[in-house]
Amino acid sequence: MFATSETENYSFPKSFAWGATTSAYQIEGGWDADGKGLNIWDTFTHQGGDRVFMNQTGDVACGSYTLWEEDLKCIKQLGLTHYRFSLSWSRLLPDGTTGFINQKGIEFYNKVIDSLLANNITPVLTVYHFDMPQAVEDLGGWNSEKTVAIFEKYAEFCYETFGDRVKFWITMNEPNLHSIFGYEVGIHAPGKKQPSYGAYQAGHNMLLAHAKAWHKYNTDFRNKQNGSVSISIYAPWSEPFDPSSAKDKEAAETYMSFFSHWIAKPIFIDGDYPEIMKLKISEYSKKQGLNVSRLPEFTEEEKAMVKGTADFFCLQYYSTAKHRHSPEMSEEPSFFSEQLYDPDWPIAGSDIFHVVPWGLRKLLGYIKEIYNNPVIYITENGYPQKDPPVLEDKQRWKYIEDTLKELSKAINIDGVDVRGYFVWSLIDNFEWAEGCNLRFGLFHVDFEQAALPRSPYYSAFQYSDVVKRNGLPGPVDKLTLT
Ligand code: BGC
Repeated sequence: MFATSETENYSFPKSFAWGATTSAYQIEGGWDADGKGLNIWDTFTHQGGDRVFMNQTGDVACGSYTLWEEDLKCIKQLGLTHYRFSLSWSRLLPDGTTGFINQKGIEFYNKVIDSLLANNITPVLTVYHFDMPQAVEDLGGWNSEKTVAIFEKYAEFCYETFGDRVKFWITMNEPNLHSIFGYEVGIHAPGKKQPSYGAYQAGHNMLLAHAKAWHKYNTDFRNKQNGSVSISIYAPWSEPFDPSSAKDKEAAETYMSFFSHWIAKPIFIDGDYPEIMKLKISEYSKKQGLNVSRLPEFTEEEKAMVKGTADFFCLQYYSTAKHRHSPEMSEEPSFFSEQLYDPDWPIAGSDIFHVVPWGLRKLLGYIKEIYNNPVIYITENGYPQKDPPVLEDKQRWKYIEDTLKELSKAINIDGVDVRGYFVWSLIDNFEWAEGCNLRFGLFHVDFEQAALPRSPYYSAFQYSDVVKRNGLPGPVDKLTLT
């Protein structure tokens, strides 16, 4: 605990990790360069048909595959202590298996990792961020149990290849969002519309794959490499619509069970899904005349295997919504239950993005309580601007600043053990189905120019000051990035 005066200064613990995040498909481009294999986002975007805003693709994106040095300059200008990025699976293993290894892919990531370390920046490596090799998808992707073993092998290959230098691993990014968007509603690659079961099935296989990958590290690499492994979870906060209504409180809690405890509880508590999910889905499956629940079950052996497979909690917070009791919510609640927002909450670049910095503090307190005070890293938090963005992005900075104040209170007053904070994103990039229409970068990327120049937003100046001071005295008048 810190003294109140320090709290007022919004201080952060010593050695706090200050980072920014990107992901391979969203920034690299070079979709077919140097032997890279096809992945599901290449296929999805090349199909056209307005799957993506203006039929844009990540073929070029920010060009980071050839412009890595430009990204490194941004990272150094911010003074980050950590940089989180992901590996493109099909750049390393074009068909997803170690049957053929693409040396050029290894060289690229070696260059990134080595230059980060040479600059005293800790690499945080996400093994998988939404971009499955097409060849693995063709075998069933996350709908298939076969992908569990294929992913485990891929993770092993990553530890073997980069683990001498990388000590902070995230096996996969947001299995909850990935399975809902990619395998249930199909608005993300691989575009599968499998209502009522797709997300449960994909999420189940991702949980097993993550657990296998964690055990692989734990058994074969931890002793010699001394790193840590976790998984990142998308976690919105939900408020009861009427705080005095027990039913609305239950609705908010149920929503969070379906959205984030679905993935977090098996890993952090007992290897199994939340009771409310098991109950509601099986009851409703029966009503539909099915003789098994649409929510897959873990065997006892699998439960024991999944439980405890994260060395810390990687939380990704963007926004908050309100929930209230409704007839559908009591049948089978779903990820898509009615979201309500306070009219006083400002809206950022996208209709679903409501600016609620205090939601993070509530969420952190809640996670501390139900997950036994884990070590937490906020591995993503950010604010989109709609295209065309303004360089003087003061609204975004206000969001980040207010969020950091809430975070500081969570640490200093509520005693939540948060060890780091990462902005999504380092640079504007390919925002999935939104293409380049939503910009999350601390640095602007001019997608109209072939050289794809990066320029700092106002937020970059401010954030670099926070990193330098390890806290938030703000506002600063003028700062020169070197
Ligand atoms: C994902 C990112 C995405 C960001 C902003 C996160 O859920 O991990 O890939 O760009 O949100 O939407």
